[in-house]
Amino acid sequence: MSLQVYAHRGYSAVAPENTMAAFQRAVDAGAHGIELDLHLTKDDEVVVIHDETVGRTTDGKGRVRELTLDELRQLDAGSWFGEEFKGEKIPLLSEVLTLVAEKGLLVNIELKNNKIAYANLESKVITMLQEYDLVHRTVISSFDHYSLRKVKELCPDVDTAILYMANLFEPWEYARKVGVTSIHPYRPTVVESMVAKCREYNLPVRPFTINQVKEMRRLIGLGVDALITDKVEQAFTELNRG
Ligand code: G3P
Ligand code: CA
Repeated sequence: MSLQVYAHRGYSAVAPENTMAAFQRAVDAGAHGIELDLHLTKDDEVVVIHDETVGRTTDGKGRVRELTLDELRQLDAGSWFGEEFKGEKIPLLSEVLTLVAEKGLLVNIELKNNKIAYANLESKVITMLQEYDLVHRTVISSFDHYSLRKVKELCPDVDTAILYMANLFEPWEYARKVGVTSIHPYRPTVVESMVAKCREYNLPVRPFTINQVKEMRRLIGLGVDALITDKVEQAFTELNRG
């Protein structure tokens, strides 16, 4: 399979991360897929935002888990990035899945449940993927590897990926043990022998977050399966360099 480009938090180099504007720009730039982050609101709605708190990416303050959907939807998630994005909202997962289905995109859904326990996040996400008929276009990733096991039990057909920062010992063996079908490693841990082993184990390797030209070239050269990047057009420039 040829290399895929996933827009990290949408095309977040040119639009406010994890907003519909960023996802639409990823589509416009020709990204194969989008990556997004999920949390649950106080009233258990699945929303797309990276941090546990709203302060960095909206004009509000507080913890996502302590705010209702109505309260969150009143926040401006665009102005911090640029005045032209004023009025962007924190999206519901359902809104993004509608776009994904319409545009025939791939989607990498990161469950942000490694620092906060969300009892039903896995089943909520799986139910929505089934509803939107997107199980086969999705990879679900998390730094919480127990959660990925739960995902696989709920939906054996969905691609799952361990996220990790530090070098793992034999990640291909570890992935088998956890029961995941892909690997999303922190970029510097990706070396030639590791990619070869993952290929042998039939485990796609999609490193994050690849924003430097030099690193794009190195990883393309190693034959990774995808680049998860903020800089979609730059990634295509490097890919097309041949
Ligand atoms: O896809 C992996 C990457 O998104 C994980 O890091 O902090 O950007 O969610 P973060
Ligand atoms: Ca993420």
